[in-house]
Amino acid sequence: MGASYEVRGQVAVITLNNPPVNGLGHATRKAVAEGVEQAENDAAIKAIVITGAGRAFSGGADIREFGSPKALAEPNLGSLINRVESCAKPVVAAIHSVAMGGGLELALGCHYRVTAPGAKIALPEVKLGLLPGAGGTQRLPRALGVEPALNMIVSGEPVNSELLAQVPGQVLFQKVIDGDLLDGAVSYALEIADKRPLPRVRDLKAQHPEAQAFFQFARNTVGALSKNFPAPLQCVETVANAVTMKFEDGMRAEREAFGLLMLTPESKALRHAFFAERAASKIPDVPEDTPLRKIEKVAIIGAGTMGGGIAMNFLNAGIPVVILEMKQEALDRGLATIRKNYEAQVKKGKLKEDKYVQRMSLLHSTLNYADIGDADLVIEAVFEDIGVKEQVFKQLDEVMKPGAILASNTSTLDVDKIASFTKRPQDVIGTHFFSPANVMKLLEVVRGAATAKDVLATVMALGKKIRKTCVVSGVCDGFIGNRMIEQYSRQAGFLLEEGCTPQQVDKAAERFGFAMGPFRMGDLAGNDVGWYIRKRRYLEKPDLRYSKTADLLCEMGRFGQKTGAGWYDYQAGKRDAIPSKTVVEMIEMHRAALGIAPRKISDEEIVQRLVFALVNEGAKILEEGIALRASDIDMVYLTGYGFPLWRGGPMCYADTVGLYNVVQAMKRFAKNPHDDGKFWEPAPLLARLADQDKSFNE
Ligand code: NAI
Repeated sequence: MGASYEVRGQVAVITLNNPPVNGLGHATRKAVAEGVEQAENDAAIKAIVITGAGRAFSGGADIREFGSPKALAEPNLGSLINRVESCAKPVVAAIHSVAMGGGLELALGCHYRVTAPGAKIALPEVKLGLLPGAGGTQRLPRALGVEPALNMIVSGEPVNSELLAQVPGQVLFQKVIDGDLLDGAVSYALEIADKRPLPRVRDLKAQHPEAQAFFQFARNTVGALSKNFPAPLQCVETVANAVTMKFEDGMRAEREAFGLLMLTPESKALRHAFFAERAASKIPDVPEDTPLRKIEKVAIIGAGTMGGGIAMNFLNAGIPVVILEMKQEALDRGLATIRKNYEAQVKKGKLKEDKYVQRMSLLHSTLNYADIGDADLVIEAVFEDIGVKEQVFKQLDEVMKPGAILASNTSTLDVDKIASFTKRPQDVIGTHFFSPANVMKLLEVVRGAATAKDVLATVMALGKKIRKTCVVSGVCDGFIGNRMIEQYSRQAGFLLEEGCTPQQVDKAAERFGFAMGPFRMGDLAGNDVGWYIRKRRYLEKPDLRYSKTADLLCEMGRFGQKTGAGWYDYQAGKRDAIPSKTVVEMIEMHRAALGIAPRKISDEEIVQRLVFALVNEGAKILEEGIALRASDIDMVYLTGYGFPLWRGGPMCYADTVGLYNVVQAMKRFAKNPHDDGKFWEPAPLLARLADQDKSFNE
């Protein structure tokens, strides 16, 4: 239907109706244009109200149309807004809940706007590397004032409608309506029905007393803050046009800037990430209407680093948690850490005292398995040892009620094997949280061979409830993220052997955009974690070569920040990484022992070896069906490993570089005698796609 039309006395009410958020898809645009036409031609109608059904006035463009010709089909958003603005009868936008992007632009084309209190108003296009492309940059400064409009357009952040209505001199909102919005809007429409000329935002002047200085200041600040993103600066320029140019010229410049931004790799990457996040929640063989199991109580086994953080996620979502430990001391320590974390949030003003008390009241603890049997979900976060996991899962199988979901937070162990310790493998699943578990967005949901579909669907829905980005992974060593990072770390090690220092590698990775280079990341996570895994690898895969530098580092007890020394030195209580002479000497000695003459390695080579190692392993993961889609791999890296958002993730980055070029680089790396030539054989899927001139994310 798109939008409905009804008559209330002398007022026509057009209600956008395109769930979930009244996106302005083609059917909706057409229905609104037809509604305006009908009202204009009906002599009994004096005014028109446009509002939205359900949860929003309008969330903007219909994302389902993104990139398809439908998005531009007439009436496109621009022509719809012009049609509304040129209507001979007054049009009032009645805004509630949400008016974003194109939704706000449509409202700005109306002659009047009234709002319910508390509506979220935003032009969020900048978050996709774009700018508002249907007049937002020209009309909002005219309606709201240059400075607040620029803030909204550059930040993309929503602002409460009541606050906007208080901005001196604004004409964005003529009225804030308490009580029934539609009744209020209809009476308002009758009040202004005979007023002429009809006010149009385009006829206003966007003014600033110190325009030149203001925009120069804005350029400097925005430029410095958004160095990897071209869109924010373009927003400043187009808003400046609203002050210096005639409306039509400003509109033309806005359209041109929008078109150029659409083509930037940064915007493509941001849009890719936006869709990747939505795609990740869809599992092809699990219908969206799969009935979910009820999760009203969660048990957690182990109150260590991960257990405590995992518990906080559920407490924050109002779900009661019981934590089980082996010994009272361990329990006390775990509970104290949770308390300390919350207290720090209260101190920083991020959490209200009463909320803290409420959350802590949901937390219970026990040393006894009998106390957790009624939980709907239990998450095991005990030592990473298959023997310990066996003990725990056998006990869980004994005590947990039928239908309870049994999850493991293991980061490397075989979830199918863990499931086999129980008589209910269909109820077993992996929930791989990332550290710190109360902060990191990523949750790898590991689907075992026997995991029931409703168990998977329930955990995915619960993950969303605790505000995680959930990505499904099949069972393999390290799942998606850690399996790939192992190859990345191996390359980092080889780079040291061939001539780099840790800081050179880290700087190159950080200049590329990683939140942290591999060595700073190792120091943060604890170098002993990788050491433990490598020791296992040396037995499992004796032919696979690793640089020994990381082992030598661990033999020196340099586990990272927690021991005050790792790849870098650390001052007590501080996190600044100070280059270490000892480490450089250790690397040099090791290099000499291997008989490698150091060479100067370019930043480009460093980055390519690190990132293409991720890509090659990612391609294998995709081909094996461990990941459902390339964009899932990108999501894992964007939300769990600090991969730069504006590059869209490793697979998206490889697509941008061109898979042919990626394969050529791998062939070059394979010839390096100090690297692992075999690893650089392009994964079959990668080779095939490169051959066919295709990309991972098609
Ligand atoms: P941790 O050593 O900090 O905590 C483990 C806790 O489990 C300890 O408090 C210990 O007392 C308790 N525990 C051990 N055996 C138990 C048993 N039989 N019954 C009850 N409690 C028991 O370990 P951490 O780092 O929290 O890791 C837990 C799990 O999470 C491991 O499987 C690990 O691989 C995984 N993981 C760890 C990450 C990390 O960054 N630390 C990241 C993602 C997953």
